[in-house]
Amino acid sequence: MVEPVTVPPVAAPKESRRLPTDRVRLGVLGAGNIADLNVSGYLDHPQCDVVAVCDVDPELAVAAARRWGVASAYADLDELMADDEVDAVEVLTPTHLHHAHVLAALRAGKHVSVQKPVTNTVAEARELERVASDAGLVLRVSECFRHYPPLERARELVDNGAIGRLTGVRIKTVVGLTDSDFQAGLRPEGYGWRLDHRSPGGHLFDDMVHKYAMALWLPGLDVVSVQAVVRRRDFFYEPCAALFEYNDPEVLGVMDVHYAPKMWLRSRYYGADEVFELQGEEGVLWVTRATGEMLAVPPVVVYQGRDNVCRTITERSVEADWGEGFRRSSAHFVDSLLGGTVPAMTPDEAIRVLQLCFAVYQASTTRLPVDPRTISDPVTADGWPGGDQLQQDPAVTVA
Ligand SMILES: NC(=O)c1ccc[n+]([C@@H]2O[C@H](COP(=O)([O-])OP(=O)(O)OC[C@H]3O[C@@H](n4cnc5c(N)ncnc54)[C@H](O)[C@@H]3O)[C@@H](O)[C@H]2O)c1
Repeated sequence: MVEPVTVPPVAAPKESRRLPTDRVRLGVLGAGNIADLNVSGYLDHPQCDVVAVCDVDPELAVAAARRWGVASAYADLDELMADDEVDAVEVLTPTHLHHAHVLAALRAGKHVSVQKPVTNTVAEARELERVASDAGLVLRVSECFRHYPPLERARELVDNGAIGRLTGVRIKTVVGLTDSDFQAGLRPEGYGWRLDHRSPGGHLFDDMVHKYAMALWLPGLDVVSVQAVVRRRDFFYEPCAALFEYNDPEVLGVMDVHYAPKMWLRSRYYGADEVFELQGEEGVLWVTRATGEMLAVPPVVVYQGRDNVCRTITERSVEADWGEGFRRSSAHFVDSLLGGTVPAMTPDEAIRVLQLCFAVYQASTTRLPVDPRTISDPVTADGWPGGDQLQQDPAVTVA
C-alpha cells in the first residue's frame, strides 16, 4: 500500500515588486544632516516625484519641502504613512529608529529604502526582511559606497580578471580634519543619538558599516572568521585592526581604521578618507579615495605584472565625487522599482554587514576569532558608551 504523501501548502505568490506605473512617488522620512545628499538623486531622476517630506522638527520639514519643491510637509510619521500619494519611502531618521520606522512604512504598504546601518540589531533586521517579503514589498538598504563609481569600476576590473585570481582585500580608513562647507554646515543635534546608549557602538558602527559592506561585496565572498583589536579614542573614534578569513581560503582580508586628529585632508564632505587595495595573483588594484580627496592621484590605479611585462594603468576619468554614490544609490532604487529588479543592498546583505561589524567588536572584546554568521544577539562595543570624552572633540566627523 502506498503511504499518503503530505504535500506542503504552496505559498501564495508574492505580489510583483514592479510598480504598476511609470513613475515613483517618493516620501522622505527625516530631513536632517544627510537628507539633501540622498534626495538629490531622487529630484534629478526623470521618473521620480518627491511628493512629501516628514520630520518631527516641523521647521526642518517645511524648509526641506521648500528647497526640494515638495507639496506636502508633515511633522507626524502617521500622516506620511497615510498619504496615498506616496508609493515608497526613503528612511533618513536616526539609526535606532529605523526598525520602528521601516516597519510602519511596510505596514502602510510602502516600498522602503533605508539608510545604513539597517538597524541596531540583527534580530530587528531579520524581522524587517520577513515583513517586507511577506507583504511583497521592496526593502533595500541604501549603501552609497556600493554605488561609488571607483568602487564599482574596481569590482568590474577584478571580475574581468585585471589582477588575476583575487588573494587579498585591504581597506584602510583614516579620520582627520577638514574645513569643507558640508562639514561646517552639519547640525550638532544630528550627533547626539550616535554618542550614547541609542547606538551599539561608535565610529566602527556608524561609519564602518560602509567598509564592512565593501569587504563583502568587493570580493563577492562571505567572511567566516574575524580577529580584531579595537581601541577607544576621544569623541566616538575606535582605531581598529581586523583580520578577515573568507569562505575562499585563498583570500584574506585586512581592515584598519586610524584617527589622526592633527592631520588635515582635502574633502568636500566629512574629514575622512579611505584606500582600498585588492591583491591578485597577477596584479594589484587600488581605489585611492572615497569620502575625501586626500591623495592627488587617479581614483583607480591597477598594477599588472604578467609574463615579465609590468605595467601601471590609471583610470583618471572615473567620476570620483563621493556624493555621486548617494545620487546613484537613489536613482538605482527608482530604477529597480520601475524595472522590477531587486535593488542593492538586499536585507540579507545588510544583515551580513551588521554581523561582520558586531563580530569585530566581539572578537576584540574576547580576543578570540568570531564567525560573524553566528551573531544574532545584540552586541555592544566594549566599554560603550564612553561618557564625557564622547562629547569633547570639536572636530566632528560623523559619516
Ligand atoms: N551614507 C552615509 O554616508 C550616511 C551619512 C550620514 C548619515 N547616514 C545615515 O542616515 C541616517 C540619518 O543620519 P543624519 O546624519 O541625517 O541624522 P540627523 O539626526 O541629522 O537627521 C535625522 C532626522 O530625523 C528626524 N526624526 C527623528 N525622529 C523622527 C520621527 N519619529 N519622525 C520623523 N522624523 C524624525 C530628526 O528630527 C532629524 O532631522 C542615519 O541612519 C545615518 O547613519 C548615512
